[in-house]
Amino acid sequence: MTMIEAKGVCLRFPNGTKALKDIDLFVKPGDMVYVTGPSGSGKTSLLKLFMGIEYPTSGSLKVLGQTMIQGQTAGIRRLRTIIGPVFQEFKLIDGRTVTENVMLGMRFLNLTQDQLMENAHHALQKVGLEHKAHSLVENLSWGESQRVAIARAVARKPVLILADEPTGNLDKANALNILELLTSFINDQTAVIITTHATHLIDAEKPCKVIRMDQGSLTWERLG
Ligand SMILES: Nc1ncnc2c1ncn2[C@@H]1O[C@H](COP(=O)(O)OP(=O)(O)O)[C@@H](O)[C@H]1O
Ligand SMILES: [Mg+2]
Repeated sequence: MTMIEAKGVCLRFPNGTKALKDIDLFVKPGDMVYVTGPSGSGKTSLLKLFMGIEYPTSGSLKVLGQTMIQGQTAGIRRLRTIIGPVFQEFKLIDGRTVTENVMLGMRFLNLTQDQLMENAHHALQKVGLEHKAHSLVENLSWGESQRVAIARAVARKPVLILADEPTGNLDKANALNILELLTSFINDQTAVIITTHATHLIDAEKPCKVIRMDQGSLTWERLG
């Protein structure tokens, strides 16, 4: 199945800002896609469309076969259970432990408490944070919090992982670790899309696709 199929997609906010202009994009399983471009170029807006947080104001968009238009509430809710978002705005919940936060990411799935625990444990193992399982999230460093956010996103075994500026203001070594971690979730059935303005962090040796956004328009820099 195609992951993302965007044809002539535009996004215009109610205040008149044209955040996305005539976007054509095709993402298939196994793809690793970097979305680069300066601040304000439309990277976050693009990912929001893929999650159904915003809808195209013109053009057509399908995510995992789901047509992204207003009113498709049930379909889009179902879609969100197979997408793993790592967005700054989906904050971790203070006062809860690392494990609880990861389990909350799976609350929409019909899993037993044991399955929730097991998935959370695996996800924390994968991101290298088992030793922090019982820590409160507010006591973690930014990089550790980001790993918890990744664990929360991948614990539900998504087929599409969307990460918005996941390296934030991390130093180069930690930023590279985060990118490598996200890349490790790619397989035949899974695609990962990462936005970043830090193009120097992209590993030129690894197969990937690179898109550049500029004032809402998209150009391919590398087809991978
Ligand atoms: N909710 C909104 N209402 C109006 N304008 C918005 C909104 N969200 C983003 N924008 C504008 O859309 C453009 C693209 O923003 P964004 O997608 O956040 O860019 P990036 O993630 O590349 O920094 C910017 O001009 C931004 O100010
Ligand atoms: Mg952004």
